[in-house]
Amino acid sequence: MQSVNPEIVLTLSVACAKLGAVATENAFGVVVRTGTDDDWPEILKLDSFAFGGHIADLKTGITRDLAPNENVLVATVGDELVGVTMNYDLQITVPGGALVDVPGVTWVSVSPTHRRKGILRKLLTEQHARFLAAGNPMSILTASEGGIYGRFGYGPITTEYTRTLDRRFVQFRDTTADPGGVRLATKEQAKTALPGIYDRWRRSCPGAVRRPDAFWRGVFADPESNRGGASALFYLLHKDGFATYRVRDEKSRMAVEVEDLFAVTAEAYTAVWRALCALDLMETITVSESRTSLLPYLLTNPRLPKVTGAFDLLWARILDFPRMLSARSYASELDMVFEVTDGFLDQGGIFHLRTDGAGAGGVCEPADGPAQVRITAADLSSIYFGEHRADTLAQAGRIWSESDAALDLFDRAFATADTPQGGMFF
Ligand SMILES: CC(C)(COP(=O)(O)OP(=O)(O)OC[C@H]1O[C@@H](n2cnc3c(N)ncnc32)[C@H](O)[C@@H]1OP(=O)(O)O)[C@@H](O)C(=O)NCCC(=O)NCCS
Repeated sequence: MQSVNPEIVLTLSVACAKLGAVATENAFGVVVRTGTDDDWPEILKLDSFAFGGHIADLKTGITRDLAPNENVLVATVGDELVGVTMNYDLQITVPGGALVDVPGVTWVSVSPTHRRKGILRKLLTEQHARFLAAGNPMSILTASEGGIYGRFGYGPITTEYTRTLDRRFVQFRDTTADPGGVRLATKEQAKTALPGIYDRWRRSCPGAVRRPDAFWRGVFADPESNRGGASALFYLLHKDGFATYRVRDEKSRMAVEVEDLFAVTAEAYTAVWRALCALDLMETITVSESRTSLLPYLLTNPRLPKVTGAFDLLWARILDFPRMLSARSYASELDMVFEVTDGFLDQGGIFHLRTDGAGAGGVCEPADGPAQVRITAADLSSIYFGEHRADTLAQAGRIWSESDAALDLFDRAFATADTPQGGMFF
């Protein structure tokens, strides 16, 4: 990744008035610069405090492989390292199947001794200036809290639903196939098969992220610290799908916790679920899947998989609107001028999007007004992957449109046949 402004000295002035106190200024010098080998002990200490867990050597090695020093930015005050952000070099599948290289922002933290003084904002400003200078059209992240990243132009693009079913009551419908083909795999067999199956899956799913080799190294290392008191991983393997799961044994009540379940075909998905549900001694099975899970449709009682939680796994921020909007396919014809507002990076403006529909691509170019729809960078990033609709955001007062018809055309064009799914938390 190209680096710009290797060192910028920033003086932050925090107006106490903003905090409701007397209007005085508290100024201090913050340096934002590229990370070095020498910074890593302090980076790990900072992230340990920020995320509330000591970071083991294995995770350190994986993180350093995924984020070479040129992908790391640190903030220092005097000789103290007080902030960090970094990125992994990832790739995301957009609707229509194009693969786009994207930086994945991660390990973001500011010391609790220096919070709410604008250090995160300074770090992200520099980081995104570098993303733009390197020509990245989009960046992605997984967020620790939902309230942080909207202001930086990120919108949630996937929703994972946690479902728990009482396995003892599972009955498959007569119409549900029983294709078989699932093997109990060893870790060595899983190492050979899983990355390839995942890679086939992620290329066919909008929003899915490529898992780098170093990420898989962490999966198979399966350290005790990742297990949360449950067992080491078990692997169920089909040629076109797999599940990895742990067993939690609490007071003789055994529960299956699925870590990963990916299938390239409905047949593989069904076969893997048949095998999971045949684990007689297990009481419950918990899994995270997208909104349009096939599971309830396989069962005589579709109410059995109970949704017990939902969370936004992946967030995205479009950096180059013409390029990203010309990269995906569209469900219907559109010929629209719209305005994107971007308070963080100033990449917004007025654009013209023309699409042929029926799954064909589109052409997006800068244009002159008047705009028929006005939308923020964050909301357009959310809509882009098809999980969120312009109409919903407009009803919430977040999008302006000249008419309901314009909004409807927008939604029809951006609709995706497949529900987006991220595939990777990082
Ligand atoms: C989140 C964190 C990095 C913020 O750092 P910070 O230096 O205090 O943030 P800043 O002062 O630069 O704040 C920038 C903006 O984000 C807002 N913000 C910061 N933390 C926030 C939070 N947790 N929730 C909501 N808004 C937040 C600020 O109010 C500020 O808003 P404004 O500029 O629009 O007025 C820091 O609290 C932290 O390290 N948290 C624990 C680790 C973590 O969750 N990291 C994020 C991983 S995805």
